[in-house]
Formats: sequence, C-alpha cells, structure tokens
Amino acid sequence: MQNSRRNVPNILITGTPGVGKSTLCKKLSELTGLRWLEISTIAKENGCITEYDPVYQCSVLDEDKLMDGMEEAMCNGGNIVDYHGCDFFPKRWFDIIFVLRTNNTALYDRLTQRGYVGKKLEDNIDCEIFQVILEEAKESYDHDIVHELKNDTYDELNENVQKICVWLEQWVSQGM
Ligand SMILES: Nc1ncnc2c1ncn2[C@@H]1O[C@H](COP(=O)(O)OP(=O)(O)OP(=O)(O)O)[C@@H](O)[C@H]1O
Ligand SMILES: [Mg+2]
Repeated sequence: MQNSRRNVPNILITGTPGVGKSTLCKKLSELTGLRWLEISTIAKENGCITEYDPVYQCSVLDEDKLMDGMEEAMCNGGNIVDYHGCDFFPKRWFDIIFVLRTNNTALYDRLTQRGYVGKKLEDNIDCEIFQVILEEAKESYDHDIVHELKNDTYDELNENVQKICVWLEQWVSQGM
C-alpha cells in the first residue's frame, strides 16, 4: 500500500495564489498539531530562491535543493505542505491533496488588496479561471487523492478545515 509506513499523513494544500492556502493551513495546523510547511517561506529561509524573474515578478525556486531539505520531514509524516504548485514534489510524499478554489470576483479583490497589478494580477486570475493548478494536481497524482475545495468565504474556510480534520481522524484510526 502506498505510504503505509507513515503513522501520520502528509497533506498538500495547493491552488492559485490568493485562494487562501496559508490561512487554511495555519488554522489546520493549530487544530491538528500537524507541521505547516509554507514552501515560499521555507525556500527563502534555506537559500532555495535562485533568481527573480522580472517579467513574471516572482522568484525562481531551486526545486531540487528544496526537496532534499524536506525529504526527512516528509518521510516521517505529519506535514501540511502549502504551495501554489505541485508537479515537482515526489508523488510518494502525499496521502491527500486539496486544491482550493475561489471565484473570480473574490480572488480579484484579494489580489488587488495585496497590491497585485498588471500582468501578475491577470496571470493569477487566468490561472484560476483555467483551473491550471487543479489540472496540474490531477496530472501529477492519482485522481482519487485529489480533492477540490471551494474557498470563497470564511464560512467555507471553516467547513473546509472541518472536512480535512474528519478525513485526518479517519486516516489515523483506520490506517487508510
Ligand atoms: N475563505 C476565505 N474567505 C475570504 N477571504 C479569505 C479566505 N481565505 C483567505 N482569505 C483572504 O485572502 C487573502 C489571501 O489568503 P492567503 O494568503 O491565505 O492565500 P494563499 O493561497 O496562501 O496565497 P499565496 O499563494 O500567495 O501564498 C488573505 O487576505 C486572506 O485573509
Ligand atoms: Mg500563502
């Protein structure tokens, strides 16, 4: 059975920037005691950002260096990985994947509040409209472990946290 050696699962929370991954992961981590691995922060702290792309206004990640540093923690289990991409992580790391989704209006407001403008704003809105991250997750992992979660409102956020907690309790008790 895949990942049968872990006593506690690893969860991937992914989705377009601004869909609420970190907000959800923080809550989930506080409730469950699982370790929240916010990849953007970890990458910066561990020198895994190699360059800055002036066109896309974003950092370029040294994926191999990042993954080498994460391997031991991931093998031990009990991690919530938070990142806006998912195709480069080893498939064996994750027991379940949640792709957060947000409607265009809400996402537009969240990203403009953050100061995103121009190409960066448009690219992120397009990314969500064309469900790029959902497709990436389905292409990279078994379909039955990839779940979409609507995350437009704080009520939905709380429901999502609850759903994940229920799944976690079942996984731990049944050794799913
Ligand atoms: N369910 C929600 N309903 C309404 N607002 C939300 C919700 N979740 C998060 N937000 C707000 O949306 C903004 C973006 O949230 P957050 O930083 O968690 O997104 P993210 O997916 O982690 O983004 P990034 O990929 O850039 O790290 C924040 O201002 C947050 O307060
Ligand atoms: Mg975040």
